[in-house]
Amino acid sequence: MRSPRDFFKPLALGAPSPVTEIPIKPSRVIHFFDPSNPKMAAKVPDMAKQADILLGNLEDAIPADKKIDAREGLVRIGREVDFAGTPLWTRVNSLDSPWFLDDAIRLVGEIGARLEVMMIPKVEGPWDIHYVDRLLAQLEGRHKLQKPILVHAILETAQGVTHVEEICAASPRMQGVSFGPADLAASRRMKTTRVGGGHPAYLVRNDPDPKNPQAPRPTAQQDPWHYSIARMVDACTANGALPFYGPFGDIADSLGCEDQFRAAFLLGCVGAWSLHPSQITIAKKVFSPPPEEVAFAKRVLEAMPDGRGVQMIDGKMQDDATWKQCKVMVNLAKLLAAKDADLAQAYGF
Ligand code: GLV
Ligand code: MG
Repeated sequence: MRSPRDFFKPLALGAPSPVTEIPIKPSRVIHFFDPSNPKMAAKVPDMAKQADILLGNLEDAIPADKKIDAREGLVRIGREVDFAGTPLWTRVNSLDSPWFLDDAIRLVGEIGARLEVMMIPKVEGPWDIHYVDRLLAQLEGRHKLQKPILVHAILETAQGVTHVEEICAASPRMQGVSFGPADLAASRRMKTTRVGGGHPAYLVRNDPDPKNPQAPRPTAQQDPWHYSIARMVDACTANGALPFYGPFGDIADSLGCEDQFRAAFLLGCVGAWSLHPSQITIAKKVFSPPPEEVAFAKRVLEAMPDGRGVQMIDGKMQDDATWKQCKVMVNLAKLLAAKDADLAQAYGF
């Protein structure tokens, strides 16, 4: 086993020291753009004003004959476009693809200082993170980068879900994990062609009424993703990394998207991907705590400033544990209010 004393030492000569904490920033929405598409590239400055994070996608959805255009387009955007403080991430191609090695070499060499996070798709186990960790350290050392590039894994294979705790603990670079329902469904041989969301056939049905066995029996649709998302949230938070919901594919179904995002928010995810500008608005709304919840949480914190003792507020028992829940809510509200004047007003900060 690696010595804990070595965990925060650089993995290559000249590489910057690993971070001891993952920075907490507004992360409600990671907006994906295709850097090979000049129309989309032209919209990047405007998108940077709207999204919390902008991600240049090199992997799936970029056809094989556009892979180099996408990589070079991202280099150009990273060099030339002012993101007004919005973090720039990338999703590189998978480790077994013919493109990953050059994605990493070229991006770190050309725009390494601007890239905050490298998202690695189809991560199967800690061995994948160890490989990326060392490679990034070598490239950072070569290009004399001052800050380590953080790593974000997509949870989208059965192997990945099986090893998610070890993946999150594999490196101090582990910034977070996103849930990838499309590849995960394929990897598990789930029988759905949807990208996220529920499925009307995944349900439980009430027993027949003994007095009227032919009467219609109510059903309740179930959430096929609950187990994996909850496991990802635990694995991330146990290791100081951040969990995200990934893509929702039915762009026209804004309500379904909102519900999927909200389920993830309630379970502990900090944000989600947007594949279309309309989903930026949905994610920002859902992953910002509701003002009435924040108002209640503020009342609890005011009534119990040091978090000790017990109080009844609006008929609800408050103690050390609920004080901590309220802290989570108010801390997130403060973080977002610092960036968004409308939210600051809604929260009364
Ligand atoms: C995302 O990459 C997914 O496969 O859902
Ligand atoms: Mg995928």
